[in-house]
Amino acid sequence: MTQDELKQAVAQAALRHVVEGAVIGVGTGSTVNFFIDALAGMRGKVRAAVSSSERSTERLRAHGIEVLDLNQVEHIPVYVDGADEIDPAGAMIKGGGGALTREKILAEAAERFVCIVDSSKLVPVLGAFPLPVEVVPMARELVRRRLRDFGGDPRLREGFVTDNGNQILDVHGLRIEHPAELESRLNQIPGVVTVGLFARRGADLALVGGADGVSQREFD
Ligand code: A5P
Repeated sequence: MTQDELKQAVAQAALRHVVEGAVIGVGTGSTVNFFIDALAGMRGKVRAAVSSSERSTERLRAHGIEVLDLNQVEHIPVYVDGADEIDPAGAMIKGGGGALTREKILAEAAERFVCIVDSSKLVPVLGAFPLPVEVVPMARELVRRRLRDFGGDPRLREGFVTDNGNQILDVHGLRIEHPAELESRLNQIPGVVTVGLFARRGADLALVGGADGVSQREFD
Protein backbone atom coordinates (compact mmCIF):
# COMPACT_ATOMS: atom_id res chain seq x y z
CA MET A 1 0.00 0.00 0.00
CA THR A 2 1.24 3.52 -0.74
CA GLN A 3 1.33 6.15 1.99
CA ASP A 4 -1.64 7.88 0.37
CA GLU A 5 -3.62 4.64 0.45
CA LEU A 6 -2.83 4.28 4.16
CA LYS A 7 -3.98 7.85 4.78
CA GLN A 8 -7.14 7.20 2.82
CA ALA A 9 -7.85 4.06 4.85
CA VAL A 10 -7.56 5.86 8.22
CA ALA A 11 -9.59 8.77 6.90
CA GLN A 12 -12.34 6.35 5.92
CA ALA A 13 -12.13 4.59 9.32
CA ALA A 14 -12.54 7.94 11.09
CA LEU A 15 -16.05 8.31 9.63
CA ARG A 16 -17.24 5.75 12.19
CA HIS A 17 -16.37 8.25 14.94
CA VAL A 18 -18.31 11.15 13.47
CA VAL A 19 -21.35 11.92 15.60
CA GLU A 20 -24.44 12.34 13.42
CA GLY A 21 -26.33 15.61 13.81
CA ALA A 22 -23.44 17.26 15.61
CA VAL A 23 -20.71 19.73 14.67
CA ILE A 24 -17.48 18.00 13.70
CA GLY A 25 -14.04 19.48 14.37
CA VAL A 26 -11.76 19.17 11.35
CA GLY A 27 -7.98 19.59 11.37
CA THR A 28 -5.46 20.25 8.62
CA GLY A 29 -3.06 18.29 6.45
CA SER A 30 -2.89 15.70 3.72
CA THR A 31 -4.47 12.95 5.86
CA VAL A 32 -7.29 15.25 6.88
CA ASN A 33 -7.84 16.16 3.23
CA PHE A 34 -8.76 12.52 2.64
CA PHE A 35 -11.05 12.71 5.68
CA ILE A 36 -12.79 15.82 4.33
CA ASP A 37 -13.34 14.11 1.00
CA ALA A 38 -14.77 11.06 2.78
CA LEU A 39 -16.93 13.26 4.99
CA ALA A 40 -18.59 14.65 1.87
CA GLY A 41 -20.41 11.31 1.63
CA MET A 42 -22.00 12.02 5.06
CA ARG A 43 -22.92 15.60 4.21
CA GLY A 44 -26.58 15.38 5.16
CA LYS A 45 -25.79 13.70 8.49
CA VAL A 46 -23.27 16.22 9.81
CA ARG A 47 -24.71 19.46 11.17
CA ALA A 48 -21.66 21.54 10.24
CA ALA A 49 -17.90 21.70 10.76
CA VAL A 50 -15.43 23.94 12.55
CA SER A 51 -12.04 23.98 10.91
CA SER A 52 -8.44 24.57 11.95
CA SER A 53 -7.30 26.36 8.79
CA GLU A 54 -8.37 28.40 5.80
CA ARG A 55 -7.27 25.48 3.60
CA SER A 56 -9.54 22.97 5.31
CA THR A 57 -12.40 25.48 5.40
CA GLU A 58 -12.12 25.96 1.66
CA ARG A 59 -12.10 22.20 1.03
CA LEU A 60 -15.07 21.60 3.33
CA ARG A 61 -17.09 24.35 1.64
CA ALA A 62 -16.18 23.03 -1.80
CA HIS A 63 -17.89 19.80 -0.73
CA GLY A 64 -20.98 21.73 0.41
CA ILE A 65 -20.25 21.26 4.13
CA GLU A 66 -21.12 24.32 6.20
CA VAL A 67 -18.23 25.72 8.25
CA LEU A 68 -19.03 27.61 11.44
CA ASP A 69 -16.95 30.02 13.47
CA LEU A 70 -15.90 28.40 16.75
CA ASN A 71 -17.53 31.27 18.63
CA GLN A 72 -20.91 30.10 17.34
CA VAL A 73 -20.43 26.57 18.63
CA GLU A 74 -20.68 25.22 22.15
CA HIS A 75 -20.36 21.49 21.73
CA ILE A 76 -17.89 19.61 19.53
CA PRO A 77 -18.07 15.90 20.39
CA VAL A 78 -15.23 14.87 18.07
CA TYR A 79 -12.19 16.55 16.52
CA VAL A 80 -10.38 14.64 13.76
CA ASP A 81 -6.83 15.63 12.88
CA GLY A 82 -3.49 14.20 11.79
CA ALA A 83 -0.10 14.44 13.47
CA ASP A 84 3.54 14.65 12.51
CA GLU A 85 4.56 12.28 15.32
CA ILE A 86 2.65 10.44 18.02
CA ASP A 87 4.20 8.66 20.99
CA PRO A 88 2.96 5.61 22.94
CA ALA A 89 1.04 7.85 25.39
CA GLY A 90 -0.83 9.75 22.66
CA ALA A 91 1.31 12.90 22.90
CA MET A 92 1.94 14.45 19.50
CA ILE A 93 4.03 16.88 17.52
CA LYS A 94 1.77 18.86 15.20
CA GLY A 95 2.09 21.93 13.05
CA GLY A 96 4.05 20.59 10.10
CA GLY A 97 1.35 22.28 8.02
CA GLY A 98 1.55 25.43 10.13
CA ALA A 99 -1.98 25.27 11.55
CA LEU A 100 -0.94 24.43 15.12
CA THR A 101 -2.63 27.32 16.91
CA ARG A 102 -6.12 26.71 15.58
CA GLU A 103 -5.54 22.97 15.93
CA LYS A 104 -4.73 23.39 19.60
CA ILE A 105 -7.81 25.51 20.13
CA LEU A 106 -10.07 22.93 18.48
CA ALA A 107 -8.41 20.09 20.39
CA GLU A 108 -9.17 21.94 23.61
CA ALA A 109 -12.75 22.67 22.56
CA ALA A 110 -13.56 19.10 21.56
CA GLU A 111 -14.64 16.32 23.84
CA ARG A 112 -12.68 13.69 21.97
CA PHE A 113 -9.56 13.97 19.79
CA VAL A 114 -9.36 11.30 17.11
CA CYS A 115 -5.89 11.29 15.57
CA ILE A 116 -5.52 9.78 12.09
CA VAL A 117 -2.04 8.75 11.01
CA ASP A 118 -0.16 6.24 8.92
CA SER A 119 2.25 4.04 10.83
CA SER A 120 5.29 6.15 9.84
CA LYS A 121 4.12 8.73 12.42
CA LEU A 122 4.45 6.34 15.40
CA VAL A 123 7.60 7.08 17.41
CA PRO A 124 8.92 5.89 20.78
CA VAL A 125 10.09 9.43 21.70
CA LEU A 126 9.00 12.73 20.12
CA GLY A 127 11.49 15.12 18.55
CA ALA A 128 12.93 13.70 15.35
CA PHE A 129 10.33 15.80 13.54
CA PRO A 130 11.29 19.47 14.11
CA LEU A 131 8.99 21.01 16.72
CA PRO A 132 6.97 23.92 15.25
CA VAL A 133 6.57 26.97 17.47
CA GLU A 134 4.32 29.83 16.32
CA VAL A 135 5.73 33.21 17.36
CA VAL A 136 4.68 36.85 17.24
CA PRO A 137 7.03 38.28 14.58
CA MET A 138 8.52 41.05 16.80
CA ALA A 139 9.57 38.43 19.37
CA ARG A 140 11.06 35.98 16.88
CA GLU A 141 14.74 36.45 17.72
CA LEU A 142 14.08 36.65 21.46
CA VAL A 143 12.12 33.39 21.33
CA ARG A 144 14.80 31.83 19.16
CA ARG A 145 17.46 32.60 21.80
CA ARG A 146 15.27 31.17 24.57
CA LEU A 147 14.59 28.01 22.56
CA ARG A 148 18.32 27.45 22.14
CA ASP A 149 18.54 27.25 25.96
CA PHE A 150 16.41 24.11 25.69
CA GLY A 151 19.04 22.50 23.50
CA GLY A 152 17.24 22.88 20.19
CA ASP A 153 18.20 24.51 16.91
CA PRO A 154 15.27 26.82 15.99
CA ARG A 155 15.06 27.62 12.27
CA LEU A 156 12.69 30.14 10.75
CA ARG A 157 10.17 28.60 8.34
CA GLU A 158 11.09 30.85 5.42
CA GLY A 159 8.34 32.61 3.48
CA PHE A 160 5.57 31.22 5.68
CA VAL A 161 2.93 33.26 7.50
CA THR A 162 0.32 31.50 9.63
CA ASP A 163 -3.43 32.07 9.28
CA ASN A 164 -3.00 34.30 12.36
CA GLY A 165 -0.32 36.50 10.77
CA ASN A 166 2.57 35.02 12.74
CA GLN A 167 5.81 33.16 11.95
CA ILE A 168 7.00 29.65 12.73
CA LEU A 169 10.28 28.50 14.21
CA ASP A 170 10.95 24.80 13.59
CA VAL A 171 13.10 23.48 16.41
CA HIS A 172 15.48 20.77 15.28
CA GLY A 173 17.50 18.40 17.41
CA LEU A 174 15.21 17.91 20.41
CA ARG A 175 14.64 14.60 22.12
CA ILE A 176 11.42 15.11 24.05
CA GLU A 177 11.32 12.70 26.99
CA HIS A 178 8.76 14.70 29.00
CA PRO A 179 6.45 16.35 26.46
CA ALA A 180 3.84 17.78 28.87
CA GLU A 181 6.54 19.46 30.96
CA LEU A 182 8.31 20.89 27.92
CA GLU A 183 5.00 22.12 26.50
CA SER A 184 4.28 24.05 29.71
CA ARG A 185 7.76 25.55 29.89
CA LEU A 186 7.83 26.66 26.27
CA ASN A 187 4.34 28.13 26.64
CA GLN A 188 5.79 30.51 29.25
CA ILE A 189 8.15 32.27 26.84
CA PRO A 190 6.69 35.69 25.99
CA GLY A 191 6.12 35.90 22.25
CA VAL A 192 5.30 32.22 21.88
CA VAL A 193 1.76 31.89 20.57
CA THR A 194 1.59 28.10 20.39
CA VAL A 195 3.95 25.18 20.83
CA GLY A 196 3.32 22.27 18.46
CA LEU A 197 3.46 19.81 21.35
CA PHE A 198 0.07 18.29 22.07
CA ALA A 199 0.77 16.46 25.31
CA ARG A 200 -1.26 18.25 27.99
CA ARG A 201 -4.23 17.60 25.72
CA GLY A 202 -3.15 14.65 23.61
CA ALA A 203 -5.14 12.25 21.48
CA ASP A 204 -7.94 10.16 22.99
CA LEU A 205 -7.86 7.70 20.14
CA ALA A 206 -5.39 7.05 17.33
CA LEU A 207 -6.38 5.32 14.12
CA VAL A 208 -3.20 4.00 12.57
CA GLY A 209 -2.96 2.88 8.97
CA GLY A 210 -0.42 0.13 8.41
CA ALA A 211 0.34 -2.74 6.07
CA ASP A 212 -2.17 -4.93 7.97
CA GLY A 213 -4.99 -2.40 7.86
CA VAL A 214 -6.22 0.18 10.36
CA SER A 215 -5.53 -0.42 14.04
CA GLN A 216 -6.86 1.52 17.01
CA ARG A 217 -5.14 2.82 20.13
CA GLU A 218 -7.04 4.34 23.04
CA PHE A 219 -5.26 6.68 25.46
CA ASP A 220 -6.22 7.63 29.03
C1 A5P B 1 -0.96 20.70 10.36
O1 A5P B 1 -0.55 21.89 10.91
C2 A5P B 1 -0.41 19.55 11.12
O2 A5P B 1 -0.52 19.59 12.48
C3 A5P B 1 -0.91 18.25 10.58
O3 A5P B 1 -1.85 17.66 11.42
C4 A5P B 1 0.24 17.34 10.48
O4 A5P B 1 1.27 18.07 9.86
C5 A5P B 1 -0.07 16.08 9.72
O5 A5P B 1 -0.16 16.36 8.36
P1 A5P B 1 -0.17 15.21 7.27
O6 A5P B 1 -1.46 14.50 7.43
O7 A5P B 1 -0.09 15.97 5.97
O8 A5P B 1 1.03 14.37 7.51
